[in-house]
Amino acid sequence: MRLLVTGGCGFIGANFLHHLLGTHDNAFVVNLDKLTYAGNPLSVKALEDRYPERYVFAHGDIGDQDLVMGLLEGHQIEAVVNFAAESHVDRSISDPAPFVTTNVMGTQVLLECARQHKIERFVHISTDEVYGSLGPEGAFSETTPLAPNSPYSASKASADLLCRAYFKTYNFPVLVTRCSNNYGPYQFPEKLIPLMIQKAGANEPLPVYGDGQHVRDWIYVLDHCRGVELTLTKGKEGKVYNFGGASELPNIEVVKTILTALGKDESLIRYVKDRPGHDRRYAMDYSLAEKELGFVPEFDFSRGIAETIAWYEANQDWMESVQSGAYREFMSRWYKERV
Ligand code: NAD
Ligand code: DAU
Repeated sequence: MRLLVTGGCGFIGANFLHHLLGTHDNAFVVNLDKLTYAGNPLSVKALEDRYPERYVFAHGDIGDQDLVMGLLEGHQIEAVVNFAAESHVDRSISDPAPFVTTNVMGTQVLLECARQHKIERFVHISTDEVYGSLGPEGAFSETTPLAPNSPYSASKASADLLCRAYFKTYNFPVLVTRCSNNYGPYQFPEKLIPLMIQKAGANEPLPVYGDGQHVRDWIYVLDHCRGVELTLTKGKEGKVYNFGGASELPNIEVVKTILTALGKDESLIRYVKDRPGHDRRYAMDYSLAEKELGFVPEFDFSRGIAETIAWYEANQDWMESVQSGAYREFMSRWYKERV
């Protein structure tokens, strides 16, 4: 299996590379990553030492056609897994343009290069956010109409539609995964869970948007990586597969769980101005993935969060490495507008 994995220095991509190379002796992987603020070479540093014959890093943009064609042909790539994206909803609210450039136009360049190269399989990583928001009942299935509410989710939905069009028009062998909120090692501390771990550790206020009752379905990142692996190896071309963690929780419960685990007081919680267009609830019906791929999430939230907190406590050098001046500047501007 000769793979091009994009965005492998990001949170889920890095976990996927560790998992894939650690479990498939025949896997050869090129990791194409632009190294935006969210890409951290430290997250995949061990791979170069551990698998020098089977792992190659390529620094660049998925929207660079010459570079992508060169990698596909030069390394005789058989399959693509596209994780590369601008991934943070709050940043898409502040500045939508890079989301369209990478998530829509970048994905189109990647699809087109892969089509010209006659790729055998293309797995595109998408999100439950393309379905919009739920009321108190029900769950998203693969046939739920797309109704994205943020610039981020609109850009992801657009890419999903391009994937669909490539399958319908060119019979291109694409598969799309849509997953709920991931958590675990190597997640950038702008997302809820690592941000709260970092702030609680530093005895700083924990900003909870709105009333804190927004619900997310939390999946441990390794379970999502297994879902992507199953899609790559067993999925049917042209199909969409939902993945979830069967762990629906209101945000305030997640925050309180972290405070308790760290032995910190709930007085650190600060309710702040809500995110504009904030989706109220996500929940996933992933019975198709169960039936066709044999997918079952193995981590419940209490096990996953304990492992996650332990990882961040043991890897404070990683946490410090991602907190650049630009990170601090974005976070302080964003929260100044909300408090
Ligand atoms: P992330 O922000 O942690 O990482 C994104 C990676 O992509 C970074 O390494 C970045 O440098 C790279 N990248 C960005 N633009 C690029 C470009 N133009 N060319 C090449 N590389 C580029 O994101 P993540 O949380 O790991 O998410 C990965 C994928 O999974 C995304 O497509 C996201 O939409 C999707 N997803 C994420 C979640 C979640 O909870 N984090 C859930 C469902 C789906
Ligand atoms: O559902 C999948 C999506 O999950 C992915 O597609 C996105 O890439 C990923 O970023 C994530 O999006 P969310 O917006 O759900 O994740 P985030 O961690 O930003 O926020 C989770 C919830 O916590 C959300 O309801 C907003 C809330 N929140 C977030 C932050 C950063 C707070 O209350 N306070 C905060 O400081």
